[in-house]
Amino acid sequence: MAMASCSSPEERSSTTSTTTTTESPATTTETPAAEAPAVKGEGEKLIAKSDCIGCHNKVQKVIGPAYVDIAAKYPLNDENVNHLADKIIAGGKGVWGEVPMTPHSALSKDDAKKMVSYILSLKK
Ligand code: HEC
Repeated sequence: MAMASCSSPEERSSTTSTTTTTESPATTTETPAAEAPAVKGEGEKLIAKSDCIGCHNKVQKVIGPAYVDIAAKYPLNDENVNHLADKIIAGGKGVWGEVPMTPHSALSKDDAKKMVSYILSLKK
């Protein structure tokens, strides 16, 4: 019977005795996080700064397709990110309808890829 009791006094006391907090407030404001989330965050910012919002909305079709619809159509992988980044820079039409997307020739391929990574990470 005594063996069946799981809560030994030792176990109990050890759980309460960990009072070492390793938090130093001033150190880590910008952590060099894993690449994927960082790229997505950057893509979101780039999109916010660009003219994309004039034609795209996250969840609703405006002039161009909603980002969640684009995400549903293309899985997030290198090939799609590359392909769509090129399309944003060069412009395109015929995939979603007759309305063309204007070219964004001032965008760098890197930035365009970050934007696409963000868009394709959005799921309904
Ligand atoms: C003038 C309006 C307009 C602007 C500005 C615009 N888009 Fe588009 N976008 C469209 C339209 C229209 C389509 C659908 C084109 C088609 O049917 O092939 C589209 C399609 C897309 C697609 C999917 C392409 C495909 O082949 O499936 C992506 C990704 C995209 N836009 C991202 C962006 C980003 C990022 C920006 C900002 C840099 C942007 N768009 C700015 C109108 C626009």
